[in-house]
Amino acid sequence: MDTKISEIADGIYRLSTFVPDIAPPAGFTFNQFLVLGDEPLMFHTGLRKMFPLNRDALSRLIAPERLRWIAFGHYEADECGAMNEWLAIAPDAEVAHGQTGCLVSLNDMANRTPRVLQDGEVIDIGGKRVRYIDTPHTPHGWDAGVMYEESTSTLMCGDLFTQLGNGPALTGNDIVGPAIAAEDLFKYSSLNPEMGTTIRALSKFSPRTLALMHGPSFFGDGAAALHALADDYDRRISGQHVKAA
Ligand SMILES: [Fe+2]
Ligand SMILES: [Fe+2]
Repeated sequence: MDTKISEIADGIYRLSTFVPDIAPPAGFTFNQFLVLGDEPLMFHTGLRKMFPLNRDALSRLIAPERLRWIAFGHYEADECGAMNEWLAIAPDAEVAHGQTGCLVSLNDMANRTPRVLQDGEVIDIGGKRVRYIDTPHTPHGWDAGVMYEESTSTLMCGDLFTQLGNGPALTGNDIVGPAIAAEDLFKYSSLNPEMGTTIRALSKFSPRTLALMHGPSFFGDGAAALHALADDYDRRISGQHVKAA
């Protein structure tokens, strides 16, 4: 396995590891995003067992001990399994997450006290501004959230739009169809009545780049893609209600 590095927006790098054994024959990618600034921020830590691979990849961009912020979408192995390994090699690094994630998991599981972010709070990392947004149970995890980098209009959307395969680092092609196919296959979302509304609300940022944790990054009309994905979840959820009635 190797980790490919691509700049998907100005100063935002995608570190992508393809694992062919997951959902073969298409395979599956795990992506982390490094946002460069005076205080570099990484979104997703990668799996604990992939830490040596990811540390070596990150060192091609910055000295890993310079990492200042460790953030991710929710408490799960691929999102944050290596958080304590990163904390150990980066002495000034802090885990930053929403209130629910800190109270439910991170106050106990992180080896240093995490920084609690309020919904909508911005971290100014010097040269970039990264906003945290709560998205509870969307696509899964009570503690779920996303991050939006303002200067590049990049939404780091975690597991939203998850797709199979090893596509290009950046695409302008449709990402909604492949996301619907992956949801049909994995059933990874916690379908809930607020889900469409939660996803649609992210469109107010009009992101130009959507940084997917599992799939290519998308460059284009991010708001339209978010609306289309929200519509599909509304359809699934109203279908469940019909079945239950
Ligand atoms: Fe997840
Ligand atoms: Fe994930």
